[in-house]
Amino acid sequence: MTFNPFIVPSAKSQLISFKVGTEPTFPPFEMPSEDGSGLQGFDIDLMKAIGNEVGLEMVFESLPFDGLIPALQSNTIDAAVSGITITAERGQSVGFSSPYFKAGLAIAVQENNTKIDNFEDLTGRKIAVQIGTTGAMEAEKIPNAQIVAFDSAVLALQELVNGKVEAVVNDAPVTLFAIKNAGLRGVKVVGELVTEEFYGIALPINSEKTMLLNYGLFQILRNGTYKQIYQKWFAGEPFILPLIAPSLIGTTSSDFTTNPLSGSGSQSVLTLLIQRLPQGAVVTITLTALSIFFGLMGGSFIAFGLISDHKILKNILRIYVEFFRGTPMLVQLFIIYFGLPAFFQGIGLQWSLQRLPAAVIALSLNVAAYLAEIIRGGIQSIDKGQWEACEALGMNRLQTLKEVIMPQAFRRILPPLGNEFITLIKDTSLVAVIGFAELFRQGQLIVATTFQAFQVYIAVALVYLVLTTLSSFGFKWLEQKMDPVGQKKEKGLLRNA
Ligand code: ARG
Repeated sequence: MTFNPFIVPSAKSQLISFKVGTEPTFPPFEMPSEDGSGLQGFDIDLMKAIGNEVGLEMVFESLPFDGLIPALQSNTIDAAVSGITITAERGQSVGFSSPYFKAGLAIAVQENNTKIDNFEDLTGRKIAVQIGTTGAMEAEKIPNAQIVAFDSAVLALQELVNGKVEAVVNDAPVTLFAIKNAGLRGVKVVGELVTEEFYGIALPINSEKTMLLNYGLFQILRNGTYKQIYQKWFAGEPFILPLIAPSLIGTTSSDFTTNPLSGSGSQSVLTLLIQRLPQGAVVTITLTALSIFFGLMGGSFIAFGLISDHKILKNILRIYVEFFRGTPMLVQLFIIYFGLPAFFQGIGLQWSLQRLPAAVIALSLNVAAYLAEIIRGGIQSIDKGQWEACEALGMNRLQTLKEVIMPQAFRRILPPLGNEFITLIKDTSLVAVIGFAELFRQGQLIVATTFQAFQVYIAVALVYLVLTTLSSFGFKWLEQKMDPVGQKKEKGLLRNA
């Protein structure tokens, strides 16, 4: 392959804009700039320098890491730079530039951990990783390990700091940077560079820009710009880079179709969907059931409080309802799962929540706020006269509520309750961010290894649809069951009604 110089635009004034996807929570390769207005990092500087050489204006677009390859496949972006390791599996779905950085994986553990030194020691341990990364793929291979996948390496490391996992498998330069430069405390690296990896710029397969970017890369390697950028972000001399990543040498497409995890054939995706989505659906159903149960209990108590005569109690409950309805559930989840443990550690207490309780608490607190309003509305829609009639019969308020009001109110709140239930089924997908392998996250995990985003997410959507449709039917049935008029009709007691 020889390089054709004619495709390099001669005048720098005619910059062509070039859309580059990146997952920007991977310091020092890509991260938000200090003033938050753009991005900075080794990869960013590198791309800009290459762009300068070849007349491309790099326009960066932030995307989740596991979304980069699908975005290249759909040509939504022109290239992706994100500390992406050149692997033969990825080479089936996207193209790569020549290697621009030598990295490798490192194992990070808590500072006082003396048990883990290498990959063998990770057998059967709880490990956090970033979804779709080579770290995740390497961790998958460890026997009996419990893997928790996060959207960013930073969240995986936070999980380690909070003591909820025993190790993180992540790119060595990133973990080291977090410890040395970003003040990550209580964590150390054991077994630095346990694998050898090379980063490349990813492009759509057969993109005509591959040669151009390679040309730009060779130019900056030759003229010293690369070294300058390297030394801005890392100490010492840059590694000598090969022309082609060793991982791409001697592989053919047929090497990978037999492995269902890396397979790009539709058969293996189907197998994965059949294996994994039902598991995810069970987690989704469990989360929904637990949260609606606690939400209903909490919501009822709040509703009773809201209609009571107790002024202070009423005000406190109002604030509660407004807070949980008025702030995004995702933020609430992050406060409970990542925020509270960090806060407690700050004041010298070791306290953290496991994933399941954290998810159920966040979902239930939120649902309770919505249900409280629904239940209150239901109770208040029952004619006041009934309270008075019951009082005249000598019943107290609690008896009246339990025996007379609630049975009627419950029928009225069933339709909005059904709505809330369906919303909750869908909202459980938010807990994927804390590494919960529910339905949506199972889908993401399949995409991370197969890169078949369309098929997989459609399949995930269909499973949600089945769950929500079944719930709708369930609630319709319940409504009929609870409707005295309908019941009598059913039994043929009310012919003319
Ligand atoms: N080098 C690893 C990989 O390619 C991790 C890259 C993660 N990059 C990021 N920007 N989060 O899988």
